[in-house]
Amino acid sequence: MTSVVASADRPAANAAPERTKIVQAKIAIEGVTKEFATEAGDTFLALTEVNCAVADREFVSLVGPSGCGKTTLLEIVAGLQAPTRGRVLMDGEEIEGPGPDHVVIFQQYALFPWRTVAANVEFPMEVAGVGRGERRERALEYLKMVGLDGFADHHIWQLSGGMQQRTALARGIACAPKVMLMDEPFSGADAITRELLQDLLAKLRRATRQTIIFVTHSVDEAIRLSDRILVMGTRPGRIVSTFDVTDDLRAHGDRVSELRDAIWSVLRDEIVPMAEDEGRT
Ligand SMILES: Nc1ncnc2c1ncn2[C@@H]1O[C@H](COP(=O)(O)OP(=O)(O)O)[C@@H](O)[C@H]1O
Ligand SMILES: [Mg+2]
Repeated sequence: MTSVVASADRPAANAAPERTKIVQAKIAIEGVTKEFATEAGDTFLALTEVNCAVADREFVSLVGPSGCGKTTLLEIVAGLQAPTRGRVLMDGEEIEGPGPDHVVIFQQYALFPWRTVAANVEFPMEVAGVGRGERRERALEYLKMVGLDGFADHHIWQLSGGMQQRTALARGIACAPKVMLMDEPFSGADAITRELLQDLLAKLRRATRQTIIFVTHSVDEAIRLSDRILVMGTRPGRIVSTFDVTDDLRAHGDRVSELRDAIWSVLRDEIVPMAEDEGRT
């Protein structure tokens, strides 16, 4: 069993050993390797030997250059793709397909344009068989959480991009998943909307205490939101470094700068050889 060291209610890599206990990982990624067949008949190694244990209620970000396998890894955790080798466990059980307890929020938020805002949020509850009255009540509650009370009966096309992403967040919460998987959910938003969405996600996370795996291109976004940042490298895709982040660190600008520099120095090592590689071809 893959385990993580955690204190009573949240993971703390730096906690004193006598105050820690070993608990089962919420998500255990064990030796995940993914190969794709190429048109030339070879295999392309997209991910190699990825190992990671995510604790209950932990917020883990995956940061890395394009093509390092972030989406592939997230889709494997979501059960949307099968690994070539290795496995992913949730609460000790192997994930073998998609399910409502581990939902993905994509960059393209995939809302139903023919449904109203509330009906979009109600959708997962409808699928789960929640009755009409309760569904509506809960949808309104979730919409309030994302600041969209008053928009329940609007159509999706009447909303701005930021409001659509908030609707997608409310729908994600409505699934009440054990684990929320997010693939660059805010990358389509302008800078100001993006900051507001980040604040909203931090607030929602405090309210729902969900476990979150979050893919982003933005080092600052990862620092702002995460308990732990996994930096990935390319060719083949793999985890190259791990950084812990705490509220205490976030409160100190100099420590945030140091962390940002440390992450960028790892990323630069990954990106520069890739650029040289491309220069040769
Ligand atoms: N279905 C697929 N078939 C072949 N190659 C793929 C497939 N999906 C992804 N890849 C390749 O695997 C690598 C990782 O892709 P992806 O997970 O989308 O990266 P990221 O999300 O980090 O940008 C890329 O080189 C991509 O071209
Ligand atoms: Mg991607």
